[in-house]
Amino acid sequence: MDQATYQGIALDADTALALLDWQLEMGCDVPMTDAPIDRFDLPARVAPTAPPLVLEAPSLGAATEPDDLAARLAEAGALAAAAGDLAALAAAQEGFDGIELKKGARNFCFADGNPAARVLILGEAPGDEEDRQGRPFVGRAGQMLDRMFSAIGLARDAVDAERAVYITNVLTWRPPGNRDPSPDEIAVSLPFLRRHIELAQPDLIVLMGNIACQAAIEKRGILRLRGQWVQAFGRPALPMTHPAYLLRNPAAKRDAWGDLLSLQERLESLSV
Ligand code: URA
Repeated sequence: MDQATYQGIALDADTALALLDWQLEMGCDVPMTDAPIDRFDLPARVAPTAPPLVLEAPSLGAATEPDDLAARLAEAGALAAAAGDLAALAAAQEGFDGIELKKGARNFCFADGNPAARVLILGEAPGDEEDRQGRPFVGRAGQMLDRMFSAIGLARDAVDAERAVYITNVLTWRPPGNRDPSPDEIAVSLPFLRRHIELAQPDLIVLMGNIACQAAIEKRGILRLRGQWVQAFGRPALPMTHPAYLLRNPAAKRDAWGDLLSLQERLESLSV
């Protein structure tokens, strides 16, 4: 490879690889375009000489501005309300263009597991592996989640609703670099999530981590909230530490185990 310079740094193969490693560590694991762009060979930009012309005033009833949050919320609410079952809801949410994340994501990630399950697990948003597969919680955190729930006899692939879990996220599109969802992204996703829970009708909800708590009960501080039952979406809900947090902090597994036992006990008490 020819040696070039980038901001005064000699960019030989080793340096270029080290820069790429650093970008990966910072979370830049997805290129923004399919084909590489040679930024040393871009045509010079021509500065605009005049502001763009406004050709027509918008007529009454014209399409809403894409950055108009109120209009996007109204559209999300109307689409969600019109969905009579989960398949219709998934189609409506996937078709909704009022969330920018859709443009950068690979796949729509609606839900996984058994929709008839008594327990619904609410996570935060798809990560890289979920974005590739179009299913929530299929990466390392997802494997951890499966192990946690199998310890109390529950599984996403169980046919029996008593033994099953149903899994979804606050967001159905991956935020770039796994950043936290913005308040607007949560707000436009909420009408779909509310309808999702209304249609699935779980007995209990597990709120996995801060973003799920923020969306469901408008609170953050998972280490204080975890293990205490609350009401969310009209049902009993249990905040728990996210499996990704448990992977980084194995000492927190002891509390998480206590929370799983609390969930099991609540399920049993609701059955009698
Ligand atoms: N973390 C989440 O909260 N949800 C996923 O689907 C994957 C990781």
